[in-house]
Amino acid sequence: MDIYALAIESSCDETSVSIIKNGIEEIATIISTQIDIHKEYGGVVPEIASRKHVENITIVIEECLNKAKMTMDSITYIAVTYGPGLIGSLLIGVEAAKTLAFVYKKPIVPVHHIVGHIYANNLVKRLSFPLVALVVSGGHTELVYMEDDYKFKYIGGTLDDAVGECYDKVGRVLNIEYPAGPKLDKMASLGKDTYDLPTPLDDDSYNFSFSGLKSAVINLKHNEEQRGKEINSEDLATSFQNRVVNILVKKTMKALKEYNINNLIVAGGVSANKGLRNKLIEECSKENINLTLPEIRLCTDNAAMIGAASYYAYKLGKVSTLDFEAKANDSF
Ligand code: KG4
Ligand code: ZN
Repeated sequence: MDIYALAIESSCDETSVSIIKNGIEEIATIISTQIDIHKEYGGVVPEIASRKHVENITIVIEECLNKAKMTMDSITYIAVTYGPGLIGSLLIGVEAAKTLAFVYKKPIVPVHHIVGHIYANNLVKRLSFPLVALVVSGGHTELVYMEDDYKFKYIGGTLDDAVGECYDKVGRVLNIEYPAGPKLDKMASLGKDTYDLPTPLDDDSYNFSFSGLKSAVINLKHNEEQRGKEINSEDLATSFQNRVVNILVKKTMKALKEYNINNLIVAGGVSANKGLRNKLIEECSKENINLTLPEIRLCTDNAAMIGAASYYAYKLGKVSTLDFEAKANDSF
C-alpha cells in the first residue's frame, strides 16, 4: 500500500509543507519564505520569524493539500522537524503537526532537520549505502558516514563557524543582503582568484575551521579601505570561495578514500553553491565516485526533505507519542 506523508518544516525562516509518497515521490511542496522581511535586519529575527509562521502555517497546509488534490483522509502520517533550529519557529510547526495528528488520528514522526537535508538527495535517487554525506548549511558543516538508513557516524566537522554562516558574515562586510551565499556564489563565478587568503585548517584531520578565513577577509577589506584602495568584490568573492570549496572537497575526497566508499551525497543550503557542485562533479568523475546533489530548490530549507526522511523513520518504527518537544539543539 502506498504511504503518504504530510511533512511540515518551520525551523528557521521558511514555512513549508509537502506531501511525499513512499519517501521518494514529491506530490506537492509549498515553501513560503520570509527572506524579504528578514533581509532588512541583516539576518533572521527570531520573534518576527515565529510570528510569521503563525500567520502562514494553516494557509500553507491547505495550499499543499489543494495542490496535491488530496484531503487529510489519504494522508498516512504527519512528519515534522522537531529541531535543531529557532525554538519559537520550531514550536509553530510542531504544534501544527501535533494538532493535525490529534484531530485526524494520524501517527506522527518527528524528524531531525539535518537528517532531512541528507534525505533531500533521496528525492533525486534512492540513497545507496554505504555513503558519505557532506553536510554544509547555515548551522552545520560536517562529514557523516552512513552505513544504512538512519545509521549515522560523525567523521568530522567544523570547530567554529559553519560554512553558510561564514558566507553570510563575509557577505555582510561586502554589503550583500542576507542570505549572502547565493550572491557571493554568483560574484565568485565572475571574478579572479587574486587575493592572498589563508587556506582554512589544511591538516590531516576531518575537521574544518572557517573563522580564520572569515577574519582574513574582514581584515583585508578594512586594510585596503584604510589605504584608500578599492576592493574588487568579485575577485575577493572568487578568492574566498576557492579557499572554502577546495578544503571542503579535499577532505571529502580523503574521507571517501580512507573509508573505501564510492557514494557521496551533499546536504544543506550550501549544497546549492555552484563552485562546490562543479568541483565535486569534477573530482568525483575522476575518482569514479557516484555523486548525488539535491535539486537546487531543495538545497535550502523545505518540507519535501522532511517527508523523504520521515518515510524511513516511519518504516523503522520511529513513530512518536504527542508529548515530544521541539529542541533548539540536538545531535542526530
Ligand atoms: O540549510 P539552510 O537553508 O538553513 C540551515 O539549515 O542553516 O542553509 C542556509 C545557508 C545560508 O547561510 C546561505 O547563505 C547558504 O545556506 N547558501 C549558500 C548558497 N545558497 C544558500 N551558500 C553558498 N552558496 C550558495 N549558493
Ligand atoms: Zn537547513
